[in-house]
Amino acid sequence: MSIFHLIEEQGSNVMAQVLEIADLKKLAQRRVPKMFFDYADSGSWTEGTYHANESDFQKIKFRQRVAVDMTNRTLASQMVGQDVSMPVAIAPTGLTGMQRADGEILAAQACEEAGVPFTLSTMSVCSIEAVAEKTTKPFWFQLYVMRDKDFAGRLIDRAKAAGCSALVLTLDLQILGQRHKDLRNGLSTPPKFTPHHIWQMATRPGWCLGMLGTKNRSFGNIVGHAQGVEDLSSLSSWTAEQFDPKLSWDDVAWIKERWGGKLILKGILDPEDAKMSLKTGADAIIVSNHGGRQLDGAISSIEALPEIVEAVGDEVEVHMDGGIRSGQDVLKAVALGAKGTYIGRPFLYGLGAMGKEGVTKSIEIIRNEMDITMALCGKRDIKDVDQSILM
Ligand SMILES: Cc1cc2nc3c(=O)[nH]c(=O)nc-3n(C[C@H](O)[C@H](O)[C@H](O)COP(=O)(O)O)c2cc1C
Repeated sequence: MSIFHLIEEQGSNVMAQVLEIADLKKLAQRRVPKMFFDYADSGSWTEGTYHANESDFQKIKFRQRVAVDMTNRTLASQMVGQDVSMPVAIAPTGLTGMQRADGEILAAQACEEAGVPFTLSTMSVCSIEAVAEKTTKPFWFQLYVMRDKDFAGRLIDRAKAAGCSALVLTLDLQILGQRHKDLRNGLSTPPKFTPHHIWQMATRPGWCLGMLGTKNRSFGNIVGHAQGVEDLSSLSSWTAEQFDPKLSWDDVAWIKERWGGKLILKGILDPEDAKMSLKTGADAIIVSNHGGRQLDGAISSIEALPEIVEAVGDEVEVHMDGGIRSGQDVLKAVALGAKGTYIGRPFLYGLGAMGKEGVTKSIEIIRNEMDITMALCGKRDIKDVDQSILM
């Protein structure tokens, strides 16, 4: 019997027992229907790159320093010119509102309280407008480029109208990597009502109750906004047909022009592509392999980071995501030159485990681990962290 079975049976305070991201993952697995938990906890094909993203962090070692003043520490920094309480943002993730009812709204609210950016996915359940209505600070919007350029353009306009303060343009999903778990689970949004799916949901009564209490149960940015998508039966075929396999660097130009604000390019894993990105005038690039969900067999993000930092120098801000499961991981990425990082699964596990409180917990776990590690490496200001803290 796991610790959580015991705690829940005894009715004691679960939150006090959550000490690391792995605890949130275990709890999420108990509270989220299998098909949606698996959707988060999966990579493409063998999941080799998914796992390498995490395990490659373990190969990097810190230099412990002693007898240095560790008072007055700060993690405050900036990402694309915006103040952040630490260089960690929430990564865009599709179907977040299926981990927990109104998931995108809850996560965005947790982020604004924590002083870190929240990035809303094109494939979110809660729409841009729904999230804007329930938050008070600007969030970021992630764009997938569709063949229907008119629709993509209108998404950009809607993000602008909602006051989003940065556009994250994802470049690594022109076609979809195959994730075996999703196919085996028959994943769909909203879920199908086969006996198998009904059983998965019925065993998660808290989740069901939440879903019954919200109208956000589909792809909020798309249904009713894209031509020909008025109901859900036409949506799945629309999605499969719509991602643009012809996306090119030239598209970045019109998107930048139409958006007119801070632009971040997501999904760069190769130094040559990083150099290409310089010509676009983007404000930042994210070294990312989509959390190991696209090209299985590609190198981990943390392994790719140093060469990309070297290739672009100071010409563009370099961010990274993939495999961050602790504040120590964030510190290693910063030491290797990342000016910002993003967490995907850690916040999804928090959300599935305990809603907004769980997202806050995931952020605070990472903040605390980063702060203590920085101190033990002999640094007091995140802006002074560089390769010298590593062996
Ligand atoms: C469940 C899930 C859904 C995702 N959906 C999107 C998405 O809609 N758009 C996008 O650009 N990236 C998406 N990603 C990739 C994340 O933005 C990010 O690159 C990745 O999660 C980082 O790795 P990590 O989960 O190990 O932190 C998704 C990732 C996960 C786990």
